[in-house]
Amino acid sequence: MRMYIGIDLGTSAVKTLLMDTAGTVIASHSAALDIARPATGWSEQNPSDWWDAVDATMLALAAAEPDKMAAVQAIGLAGQMHGLVALGTEDDILRPAILWNDTRCAAEAAEMDRDQPAFRRIGGNAVMPGFTAPKAVWMARHEPEVFAQIETILLPKDYLRFRLTGAKYADMSDAAGTLWLDVAARQWSPELVAACGLTMAQMPKLVEGSAATAPLHPDLSRRWGIDHAPIVAGGAGDNAAAAIGLGVIAPGDGFLSLGTSGVVFMVTDQFAPAADSGAHAFCHAIPERWHQMGVILAASDAVSWLSEITNRPVDELMAAVDHTDLLATMPLFHPYLSGERTPHNDAMARAGFFGLTRGHDHGDMARAVLQGVAYAIGDAVDVLRAAGAAPTRLLATGGGAVNMVWLRMIASVTGCEIAVPGGSDTGAALGAARLALLADGGDIQTVCCQPAITDVILPDPEWVPILARARHHSQSLYQAVKGITD
Ligand code: XUL
Repeated sequence: MRMYIGIDLGTSAVKTLLMDTAGTVIASHSAALDIARPATGWSEQNPSDWWDAVDATMLALAAAEPDKMAAVQAIGLAGQMHGLVALGTEDDILRPAILWNDTRCAAEAAEMDRDQPAFRRIGGNAVMPGFTAPKAVWMARHEPEVFAQIETILLPKDYLRFRLTGAKYADMSDAAGTLWLDVAARQWSPELVAACGLTMAQMPKLVEGSAATAPLHPDLSRRWGIDHAPIVAGGAGDNAAAAIGLGVIAPGDGFLSLGTSGVVFMVTDQFAPAADSGAHAFCHAIPERWHQMGVILAASDAVSWLSEITNRPVDELMAAVDHTDLLATMPLFHPYLSGERTPHNDAMARAGFFGLTRGHDHGDMARAVLQGVAYAIGDAVDVLRAAGAAPTRLLATGGGAVNMVWLRMIASVTGCEIAVPGGSDTGAALGAARLALLADGGDIQTVCCQPAITDVILPDPEWVPILARARHHSQSLYQAVKGITD
């Protein structure tokens, strides 16, 4: 049987998954990654750590499933979007990658957004500090000697492709997140590239996510026990890849992801920019499809943070939530630990609890975190509604999607039905493996089927008015404190 690999370069781990032609997951392995935060608002990783993590997961799969690894025909890549990997003339890594949740370039982003309307017109998005283009402008201003040495700029997963094959490509979904893409035409925009002091020669080649790029280096095939030189598919940014893994490919299909970040993703049949509202409009990972997306920067990350500072495992915190009054709405929590994108586009937004009393404990605070993220997801859904995407049913994915109380809160806040897939693997690594199968000749409709749904979470009529009122308080609170954190 022909076999396929999907590699998802997440922010907190690399996950590598082995799948057969029927789309069945055979095995997967993960290797953890650390984030360096050398200054407030900074977030960096060393690309060579990504590579070591990929190698570790491939070796683990080779040890566990040697016969199946030998039959691998294609490899697909998914990854955290927007990160800037700068390579020099010897393809050397010039500095640590600046990640999607790094907001150091807030001033540059605001200036570009104000002075260069072409970014919204051609790139389809407000210039936000998370995107790649303002990170490059920050480098040009603050590290001019490094900027001057840049030979190629790659996105995170495309650095892995470079190590796998020696070829430099970006797929359309991830390329759209740089803000250098003409998103309607699915081509680099020379105008947007030049606006950042860069040239087209520094951009990788473009490819659709489901198309083939280059074969795996023979020495890596040998190292990982693969009989052939499998082709590497274009792949996708992690959100478009998750959509492929969930079979979210038809216009009107959508998903909710509760990973480090929180994402509401809706497929569109055309480029549908709505930059003014903070919605993202990017290419999908398959030809002639696009998507709209609302992104909040801390979803499960807010839970992880509370777990770290209270020194309690996430499971213990979530069990404590169940012992609180689930209809209580105080304290409130703003999840803006890393600033916020949709809808505020406010790198200086900050997190906070409000309304604590002497009687509240860690369970109440954990409940507030879940509710606060639910309100932020509600704001993102409202933005998509205003932009025309009209989500009514969302498939749930990401680590937080196992938490039924959280999903009930989100359903009640957004008014959307949330469908929970069964089985364990529906995420970006599966999407990457599916893109590999498509690059090897698979049929889109067959490969990108939707998973079986085991639970459907509906808005809870008792919760809806109570959470709506608390969300209103939370929004008023944001408006009241906006601007006093800088
Ligand atoms: C999307 C975004 C995040 C990262 C997380 O615009 O920035 O979802 O892709 O990995």
